Amino acid sequence: MRRRFAAFCALAALSIPAAAPAETLLERGAYLMRSIVACGNCHNPGAHEGRPDLSREMAGGSKWDGKPFTTYAPNLTPDPGTGLGKWTDMQIVAAIREGRRPDGSIIGPPMPVELYRGMSDRDAHAIVAYLRNLKPVRSQVPKAAYRIPLPESYGPPVGSVPEPPRGDRLRYGAYLAGPLGHCTECHTPVIAPGRRDFASQLGAGGFPLHGPWGTVISPNITPDKQTGIGEWTDAEVKRALTQGLRRDGDKMYPPMAYHYYRNIAAGDLDAIVGYLRSLKPIRRDRERRFIPPGG
Ligand code: HEC
Ligand code: HEC
Repeated sequence: MRRRFAAFCALAALSIPAAAPAETLLERGAYLMRSIVACGNCHNPGAHEGRPDLSREMAGGSKWDGKPFTTYAPNLTPDPGTGLGKWTDMQIVAAIREGRRPDGSIIGPPMPVELYRGMSDRDAHAIVAYLRNLKPVRSQVPKAAYRIPLPESYGPPVGSVPEPPRGDRLRYGAYLAGPLGHCTECHTPVIAPGRRDFASQLGAGGFPLHGPWGTVISPNITPDKQTGIGEWTDAEVKRALTQGLRRDGDKMYPPMAYHYYRNIAAGDLDAIVGYLRSLKPIRRDRERRFIPPGG
């Protein structure tokens, strides 16, 4: 105890908060952006090709083109004319967690705003710190066209979201797989336009992901033994996440962010796997895995 107190004083003298992780906002932001949060999986040029152009990091441009909408990933670099250079920190946080731009307009799909609502204040500001530190890139992205109505809002104002306790591994795993990584967004079926069945089919898959690669139906990642990942070893689940390989070793289709997930820290990967194991097992087969472009 005495030793700990002495250590605390030594740390306090260096003005490093002893209880909090000794990591700056920018370090935290860099870790999140290059691993579990992976905004670049949509906002990096080359995102759809799985070859992000990091010389123009976060400059946007990738296109989603389907019946309900045509949209483009906006430029998130600090360029004042075409990026976020003129936005305040709080305006960027509101865009991430509430899906609202400074002019009041609503950000449409596929940005996973619904889950980002649960992102902690510190992590949201860590991401802002990372975006501010990027090289400004001048790149005007075309305007989106939504042929479906956008919601008036994604819910009441988010207010303040505290840090989830990192010692509670199950809760932290849920935070990683939900608000940070939106695993559950891609892996939960939709029951009505814009509404996922989080209440009774969390993680059961069956959500179609459209892109230039075609349409991929997300698999069931609940612990069901026949239709989910109940029989998979932890190593197989981790390999799927960090290398994009199926259980049989075949390469996966896009768009899971495995190029980013390979940078997830070992402890965080364990927490994610632990959380998946805790989900209610749901029997739900995927009718098809893949529909080719135009098919
Ligand atoms: C699944 C793809 C996807 C992911 C993941 C994603 N975004 Fe987006 N984001 C988009 C698209 C597409 C738009 C534009 C939507 C529209 O036109 O209404 C957008 C819009 C935005 C905007 C509004 C910018 C503007 O100029 O209008 C901001 C800010 C933003 N995203 C930040 C982020 C951050 C930060 C992350 C990670 C925490 C993130 N996004 C994750 C696809 C994504
Ligand atoms: C952008 C959507 C998306 C996100 C986000 C996403 N996944 Fe996936 N995931 C997929 C798709 C699609 C596949 C199947 C690809 C294939 O089989 O070719 C997949 C495959 C998997 C598999 C292999 C299961 C199987 O039966 O093959 C696991 C496990 C998995 N995801 C877990 C996760 C976890 C955990 C996260 C969050 C850290 C996550 N996913 C985030 C879309 C996503």
